[in-house]
Amino acid sequence: MSKRTALVTGALGVIVTVVSQELAKAGCRVVAAYHPQFDKPEEWLKEQEAAGFKDFILVAGDVSDFASCQAMVAEAEAKAGGPIDILVNNAGITRDKMFAKMEPDQWNAVIDTNLSSLFNMTKQVSAKMAERGWGRIINISSVNGVKGQAGQTNYSAAKAGVIGFTKALAQELAAKGVTVNAIAPGYVATKMVMAIKPEILQTIVDSVPMKRLAMPEEIGGAVVYLASEIAGFVTGATLNINGGLYYQ
Ligand code: CAA
Repeated sequence: MSKRTALVTGALGVIVTVVSQELAKAGCRVVAAYHPQFDKPEEWLKEQEAAGFKDFILVAGDVSDFASCQAMVAEAEAKAGGPIDILVNNAGITRDKMFAKMEPDQWNAVIDTNLSSLFNMTKQVSAKMAERGWGRIINISSVNGVKGQAGQTNYSAAKAGVIGFTKALAQELAAKGVTVNAIAPGYVATKMVMAIKPEILQTIVDSVPMKRLAMPEEIGGAVVYLASEIAGFVTGATLNINGGLYYQ
């Protein structure tokens, strides 16, 4: 089997790093698609090279913008020397506010980046995957899309939407060799989660039956599984990785 190309969207933080490294270890050529406003790509590449990952490809763009996604995937394919076989829709933001205080721009930013991004990115790759008869689309949802979270009507709606998108597209592509699955992580020790006020974060950790945050590797391992040959019969599924946290 020739080397597969995987494209992972999102800030160059722990999740993209670990997912990229795990996919590379599994034999994939990896493209990380980051937002130019938020990341320092040269530093990240240097760190990856120092850790032994010398072949990562970077492309920059905005997942909330369709034209930007078109350009980003075209650049990724040119740099990788072929089409995208595995798409990991991971990019996401929070704009947490109680609904009474939430402004339209906080609603729209989260829906555009966390949900419309799936349309914008998947459109660039899904038809070609179906033509080739093989593909993997892996969408990162959240436990808060499954259970809801006070202060996150925007985020919970978008992440629940990710699951609906996954189930619907899985049916459309099931006979074409392309699987579409979601992962719904609980709280992982990312910049996003560490930005929660410490006393609120402590309450959250206390509410997790395992009494801890998830390790990024616990998400990366699931991405590798869903991207693998052996996961070929899994589609439309949501893999919950949340330490037992389902209800408040
Ligand atoms: N349920 C119901 N009501 C709640 C509540 C809860 N869990 N938490 C707070 N409230 C109420 C408060 O009692 C308060 O009510 P009154 O005004 O009547 O007193 C009101 O909501 C305002 O609460 P705060 O004082 O906390 O308001 P704030 O503006 O300081 O903070 C917030 C609001 C930013 C949303 C804050 O509550 C918060 O950070 N909550 C956590 C949200 C969260 O879990 N985010 C996850 C981010 S990480 C992520 O999303 C990754 C992932 O996928 C898991």
